Amino acid sequence: MKVLAIHGGPRKGWNTDTLLKKALEGAASAGAETEMVQLYDLKFRGCVSCLSCKLKKEPRPNRCVLRDDLTAVLDKAHVADAVILGSPIYFSEITGEARSFLERFLFQYLNYDDTNSPLSPRKRMGLVFTMNCPETLFGQIGYHDLFKRYENWMTRFFGHCEMLLSTDTLQAKDYSRYHLGRFDADAKRLRHETVFPQDCQKAFEMGVKLAKGN
Ligand SMILES: Cc1cc2nc3c(=O)[nH]c(=O)nc-3n(C[C@H](O)[C@H](O)[C@H](O)COP(=O)(O)O)c2cc1C
Repeated sequence: MKVLAIHGGPRKGWNTDTLLKKALEGAASAGAETEMVQLYDLKFRGCVSCLSCKLKKEPRPNRCVLRDDLTAVLDKAHVADAVILGSPIYFSEITGEARSFLERFLFQYLNYDDTNSPLSPRKRMGLVFTMNCPETLFGQIGYHDLFKRYENWMTRFFGHCEMLLSTDTLQAKDYSRYHLGRFDADAKRLRHETVFPQDCQKAFEMGVKLAKGN
């Protein structure tokens, strides 16, 4: 049982990275072999639409042919029993790096002959998204649709998806050092001390669930 976490954010030791590590701790506690990939340490591009993965040859390629730092990650994700992608939300989307990873990860398996039958191996997927936005604003700014879209893609391609949303996160250790005046620093700190540990626990449980497969 292999569980691979892919961190699509730049800040090690912060919200997304911490939740992914908790998820891997949970997976390891259930007996899984775990590994973490930091996308921001790698040099890679998104899909270049070369269509090599769709060439008419036998056996069907179905694998990305681009060779860069993401190649080994795609190989690991291909054989992992569970893959957890984590990203902070930037401008109401996942980061560019996380998105580039997903373009390469998903397009190789996309079946243009029958889009309802992707060529991906079955596996359990986890999504971990962190954001400044409180859940009360999700309806107003379209975040329910955003997250549902990613959940649907994962389920369609891999058959299973767990999702964890960590909202209203702490963005700076000391808010007084930055022009972050629209945020209530004390409320952010309090939430980080009370709610974020609960999110960490949920991440741990997600890891256990993904590793156990139930
Ligand atoms: C470039 C940038 C854009 C951001 N855009 C959003 C946004 O659109 N919505 C939101 O809720 N938070 C936004 N944030 C806040 C981050 O999503 C939030 O602080 C997140 O928890 C950071 O994750 P990290 O602590 O793992 O780095 C943005 C942060 C940055 C740096």
